[in-house]
Amino acid sequence: SPSDPDLVERARAAKEKLGDKVFVLGHHYQRDEVIQFADVTGDSFKLARDAAARPEAEYIVFCGVHFMAESADILTGDDQKVVLPDLAAGCSMADMATAEQVAECWDVLTEAGIAEQVVPVSYMNSSADIKAFTGRHGGTICTSSNAQRALEWAFEQGSKVLFLPDQHLGRNTAVRDMGMSLDDCVLYNPHKPNGGLTAEELRSAKMILWRGHCSVHGRFSLDSVNDVRERIPGVNVLVHPECKHEVVDAADYVGSTEYIIKALEAAPAGSKWAIGTELNLVRRLANRFAPEGKEIVFLDKTVCFCSTMNRIDLPHLVWTLESLAEGNLVNRIEVDRETEQFAKLALERMLALP
Ligand code: 13P
Ligand code: SF4
Repeated sequence: SPSDPDLVERARAAKEKLGDKVFVLGHHYQRDEVIQFADVTGDSFKLARDAAARPEAEYIVFCGVHFMAESADILTGDDQKVVLPDLAAGCSMADMATAEQVAECWDVLTEAGIAEQVVPVSYMNSSADIKAFTGRHGGTICTSSNAQRALEWAFEQGSKVLFLPDQHLGRNTAVRDMGMSLDDCVLYNPHKPNGGLTAEELRSAKMILWRGHCSVHGRFSLDSVNDVRERIPGVNVLVHPECKHEVVDAADYVGSTEYIIKALEAAPAGSKWAIGTELNLVRRLANRFAPEGKEIVFLDKTVCFCSTMNRIDLPHLVWTLESLAEGNLVNRIEVDRETEQFAKLALERMLALP
C-alpha cells in the first residue's frame, strides 16, 4: 500500500544515500505520500524557476507531469539529469496541441495574411516542441500566474496573439483581466480545415485561442458554483483560471495553485471556501487549515483528481530513488538540442517578464 511504512522508510533511506546529488521537486497536485519527500513544492512557474536552484545536484527528480520535466531539463545544466518517476505521467491538455497541428495553424495564419502580426503565447502546459515553435516565432511561455503580463508583453510586440493550448486560460485572462470582449476571441479547432475559421474571422480577431482544455478543471460548472453557494452561505468561491469562462465569471477569486495557497494562508479564521482545482491539493489545504477554523471544501460534488499527476505514487518514487542511489539512471527526460535552444528562448522571455 502507498502509505506502507516500509516504503516511506525506503524512500527516506534512498534519498539520504543520494544526499546533495538529488533534488526533488513536487507540484502542488502531487499526492501527500510523494509531496512529503519534495525539497521544493510549487506551481508550475515556481518550479520552473526553482529547477535551476541546485546546479550541484546531478539528478532532478520531478514529481509532476512530462511537460514540467521537459521544462526543467531545458532550464538546467547539461550535466544535470531530469527524471520523471513514471513516464506515463503526461497531460491531456498538452497532448491537444501537436507540433504538426501548430505548424499547420501557422500556415493558415500565413495564408490569411496575418502571421506577421501574430505573437504566439504558449501555456507552460505544452510539449517542448510547442515551446520551441513559440520561441522561433518571437513568442513567450506563460503560466497561470503570469498570463496577463505575458499577454501585455505580446501585445507590445504585435497586434494579435495565438494562445495555446488552453482556450480557457487565454479567454479568462483576455476578458476578465484585460477588458477584451468575447468577440475579440476566436477559437481555432485543429481538427477542422483552416481551424474552422474564415480568413475574415482571423483578420478581425485579437486573440486566436487554440481549442484545448484541462479535463480536470473542465468538470467544474456553473451549477457547481450555484450549488455550493446554496449549501454554504457566505462561502468564497476560489477557482483556477483553467476553469471555463462562466465558472471563472461566477467565482469570487481566480488564481494559480500558488495564489490559492497564499489566499487561504491570508484568510481569516471562520471564513469558508470552495476551491475549484485538483483534489489532492484541496484536501491537503482543507486538512492544513481546519485547525485554524477555516472551512475548505472542494467545489464539485464528484471527486476529480488529475489522473496523470496521480501516476507518480510512492512505489514509483521509491523505485526511482533506489535506482538512482544504485547508480542506475532511469526515466530520464531529455529534450534534443535544437528544440531546447528555441524552447529556452521562449521560457527565458517568460522568466524575464516584469
Ligand atoms: P499551476 O501550478 O501553474 O497553477 O498549474 C496548474 C496545472 O494544471 C498544472 O498542470
Ligand atoms: Fe494537465 Fe489538467 Fe492534469 Fe494540469 S491538471 S496536468 S493541465 S490534465
